[in-house]
Amino acid sequence: MEQPVRVGLLGLGTVGTGVVSIITRHQHELSHQVGRPVEITKVLVRDLERNRGANLPKDLLTEHAEEVVTSEDVDVVIEVMGGIEYTKGLMEQALKNKKHVVTANKDLMAEHGADLLALAAREGCDLYYEASVAGGIPILRSLTEGLSADRITKMMGIVNGTTNYILTKMSGEGRAYEDVLQEAKQLGFAEADPTADVEGLDAARKMAILATLGFSAPVQLEDVTVKGISAVTKTDLYYSNQLGYTMKLIGIAKRDEGRLEVSVEPTLLPKEHPLASVQNEYNAVYVYGEAVGETMFYGPGAGSLPTATAVVSDLVSVMKNMRFRVNGHSGTKPLYEADLKAEKEKQSQFFIRLYVADQTGTFKTITSLFADYDVSFEKLLQLPVEGEELAEIIIITHQTNREAYGELLERLASLEVVRNVASCYRVEGGN
Ligand code: NAP
Ligand code: HSE
Repeated sequence: MEQPVRVGLLGLGTVGTGVVSIITRHQHELSHQVGRPVEITKVLVRDLERNRGANLPKDLLTEHAEEVVTSEDVDVVIEVMGGIEYTKGLMEQALKNKKHVVTANKDLMAEHGADLLALAAREGCDLYYEASVAGGIPILRSLTEGLSADRITKMMGIVNGTTNYILTKMSGEGRAYEDVLQEAKQLGFAEADPTADVEGLDAARKMAILATLGFSAPVQLEDVTVKGISAVTKTDLYYSNQLGYTMKLIGIAKRDEGRLEVSVEPTLLPKEHPLASVQNEYNAVYVYGEAVGETMFYGPGAGSLPTATAVVSDLVSVMKNMRFRVNGHSGTKPLYEADLKAEKEKQSQFFIRLYVADQTGTFKTITSLFADYDVSFEKLLQLPVEGEELAEIIIITHQTNREAYGELLERLASLEVVRNVASCYRVEGGN
């Protein structure tokens, strides 16, 4: 057996301890694949004294990041600490010191991925980031290898485990938002600051990465329109259910004659839609290719061991490249510009819930406003509000131009007969 491949870990939290566990438990299978054992030689932690449950000799731990990224005893740096600017500096230092890098960090890859991949190529090093999107699902490899012969035109997915966990528990068990969010944190699904999860930013970063690879165009985080789930109420979930829909945080990336559209929004899906049955922290990504047609990828989107599987699989890729001396080609430059659609070129169906004055003429005022904007109803529900002279109206529109819809909503909210536009969501997968 040859010399071991030496791994330096940055971070020993949820994912880091999973990585240690897989390297330790699957050592036999790993070394069989690449002809060399894997040895963890340095681990960065914040506090040397804290017990993290990872069975590692204490002398491997360090509080000094430079000891990992510049060490003579490290061939591959695995970054599972999170963060952007400071971590980017460490990654650059690692690459300049000829260390290959594997990361689970979508925040960093969505913002600085192109620069880091270019640096890795210049240094003859690999930089892999499979775990950054959809946890244990090998979706990046599927796009860049399995589907590389095709032209992908649509990707649609549940790419955030925390929000899917929250929506599943809120709608299925009637539990409170805050209560389920705390549970998602304890289970290790949520980010250190879960704002990025619940406000859709984490999913937007993942969609930017997917769109960049799937469409071979440099899609930036700011190109993604984002809306999170923090304002979703039990009432919205109740009516979604009554009308035959399930609410999910859905990322959509479309390519239409070279024009791109990428978004993340809470979305109502018909209950029979394949993504509607994806529960808890599970993720799923639907990919449509011109030649292959429809494909679907499903699996755990967050959590220690599922995510660590993706990280260690990247390590195996690095080690195979080392064996054949072909490191430094882990990224491909995008072929196209990111040519983004304007709002007026986008179409969607919508769910709108509003409270109106329960009086003669209200309905006529509302329908004539919708007609002005050429927005027609697919479904309509009107209910009296008990004890008040108000009615609650729930509308599902037909396909509508998004710019016209935005203007319509503003006008709707300003009508005298409208007390409050309580919520509005995209609807996908209908007729
Ligand atoms: P975590 O549990 O908070 O672990 C991060 C670890 O890094 C902690 O042990 C932390 O130390 C350490 N760390 C952070 N900054 C440090 C610093 N400046 N110096 C020394 N140690 C530092 O986070 P995680 O859930 O494992 O996530 C790690 C990365 O994987 C993130 O980029 C995340 O987005 C990504 N990811 C996570 C999941 C998931 O399911 N959790 C899935 C996919 C991707 P302390 O313990 O001392 O704070
Ligand atoms: N916080 C992320 C999620 C972790 O919930 O999906 C996986 O990227």
